[in-house]
Amino acid sequence: MIIVKTIAELQDALFQQRQQAKTIGFVPTMGNLHHGHLSLVDKAKEVADIVVVSLFVNPTQFGPNEDFDSYPRTFEADCEKLHNHNTDIVFAPSVEEVYPGFAQNKTQPNLTKVHVAELGKDHCGAARPGHFDGVTTIVSKLFNMVRPDFAVFGQKDFQQLAIIRRMVQDLNIPVTIIGAPILREENGLAMSSRNGYLSQEQKDQAAGIHRVLTWAKEQLITHKLSFDSVEQSAVEQLTNQGFRVDYFNVSNADTLQVAEVSDKKLVILAAAYLGKVRLIDNVTLTI
Ligand code: PAF
Repeated sequence: MIIVKTIAELQDALFQQRQQAKTIGFVPTMGNLHHGHLSLVDKAKEVADIVVVSLFVNPTQFGPNEDFDSYPRTFEADCEKLHNHNTDIVFAPSVEEVYPGFAQNKTQPNLTKVHVAELGKDHCGAARPGHFDGVTTIVSKLFNMVRPDFAVFGQKDFQQLAIIRRMVQDLNIPVTIIGAPILREENGLAMSSRNGYLSQEQKDQAAGIHRVLTWAKEQLITHKLSFDSVEQSAVEQLTNQGFRVDYFNVSNADTLQVAEVSDKKLVILAAAYLGKVRLIDNVTLTI
């Protein structure tokens, strides 16, 4: 495994692989890796000859009052895990390497932004203005740096994955996007870097989101309850369990718009705060 910190070093390393006609799989991450990330790395290794993983905490996808400064940076531990999962290249650039001039002009490091309309406006997009523009901009920059054949993203960030798929389609970016299933703790809690902010007691409590999502799915499939009544009852249950609910939405799984009774493929998207920690999760269903 080699570790590179500049775009020039990365492209040099990749040039040699391309000369040998190797296919490239890419897993973009913000580090602080857990088993969920490592399952994405394993998936990339399954489909491609060479796996590149980026470790980059992207400042442009954090709002002014969010946790960019305190986001855990665990470079040494991440590299060890990636080594154990057969990663070939770790790309860990500085903020200055990715956004030259960022330090001087914190609010506008790039004049160019990638914006995917509609898919990004509700759910997390409504709660975190500018977040998805930060994600699509960094992901397209990373795609241009790595030029992967495949890129793997987790389905826990369902809205992010839908937006990236659409960006790739709309901008004709020559990469195949692979969505990998959510990995869960034994109690059902979706694995996430932000779970590290939770105490053991809060982790048990946090599993309530998955329980309520599973309950909601069951109500829609078996008991054919209306979307509205399921949403309302789910919010009530989560509130009673100590969550501050941001949203609990039954949506069309392709458009992410409010679900219609005629829709067949649905996703239930949820975000809720436990203390200061914002957790997201989702389940998909076909009715
Ligand atoms: O999902 C994440 O960790 C980030 O949004 C990503 C895709 C690495 C972009 O910074």
